Amino acid sequence: MQTHLHGRDMITTQEWTKDELDTVIDIALDLKRRRALGENHALLRDKVLAMLFFFSSTRTRASFEAGMAQLGGHAMFLDSTATQIGHGDTWREIGEILGRYNDGIAIRQVDWGIGNEYIRAVADASRTPVLNMQCDWYHPFQALADLLTIIEQKGDPRKLTVNVSYAFADSYQKPISVPQSEILLLTRYGANVRLTRPPEFKLMPEVVDQARDNAKKFHGSFEIVEDFDEGMKGADVVYAKSWGSMLTTSDLDESAEISKKYTDWITDERRIALADEDAIYMHPLPADRNVEVTDGVIDGPHSRVFDQAENRLHVQKAVMALTM
Ligand code: CP
Repeated sequence: MQTHLHGRDMITTQEWTKDELDTVIDIALDLKRRRALGENHALLRDKVLAMLFFFSSTRTRASFEAGMAQLGGHAMFLDSTATQIGHGDTWREIGEILGRYNDGIAIRQVDWGIGNEYIRAVADASRTPVLNMQCDWYHPFQALADLLTIIEQKGDPRKLTVNVSYAFADSYQKPISVPQSEILLLTRYGANVRLTRPPEFKLMPEVVDQARDNAKKFHGSFEIVEDFDEGMKGADVVYAKSWGSMLTTSDLDESAEISKKYTDWITDERRIALADEDAIYMHPLPADRNVEVTDGVIDGPHSRVFDQAENRLHVQKAVMALTM
């Protein structure tokens, strides 16, 4: 167990060692147990987390806010449009000033080509830890919650085939941060990771290379499949969600047009039946119901989407308690 994590940023799990990530999972399970028993765990009494959102959220905002209250502290919600960012406050003012008022700064900034750079710049300017609540490249707390869910539901990831798959959606061009974070983290836990996606929906080459290296180092495997049904076959975990074709075009309207070629990439009852009979279905939510996934699958016996959403709370509390 690593106990020297005070002051650390969490921008991507790839920058934490395997030992440090094991500590997060261990503490998350302990905090989950303590909450279930009604045990006091006010580990961050009088501490404040500033949460700066440039994009909407249900789970992330609610789970960080609930988590800080349960740890005895407070979460301050800041909508970027209601700040002076539009009138000149740069990453420097945000890092310097919010870092002086608070014990941590959490940021969601998913704009393509901007989000990760902005969060890192704030982290450089801040004297307190910066937590990535999702950027254009990474969604580390989603991946940690998903890892915890897989361990709870299926056991040691080293025995498992996890299909991280593209699915069609028409609500908006979703960031690539979730699939990138999944392939990076699950390969470090020795899973057989299958990335299934159409040719236009590639992930960043450097992230794919890191996933391959992780798989080699941690004795798992990593493969890329371009056929939706093929990706489902025999999978223990089906993690199928939509993302935009940002690596093909930065024009979101063009990306939406490209995606229309793949309207049949929907996780339905026939597709889930191609996976292992005990397979679990995962999705970070929000999902485009009956477009990305049928009601029958997302509300059916394979689905673990609400366990995933719950585990956001526990892993985030663990990281906050360790770093703040
Ligand atoms: N999964 C997730 O991050 O959900 P929100 O966008 O609602 O925060």
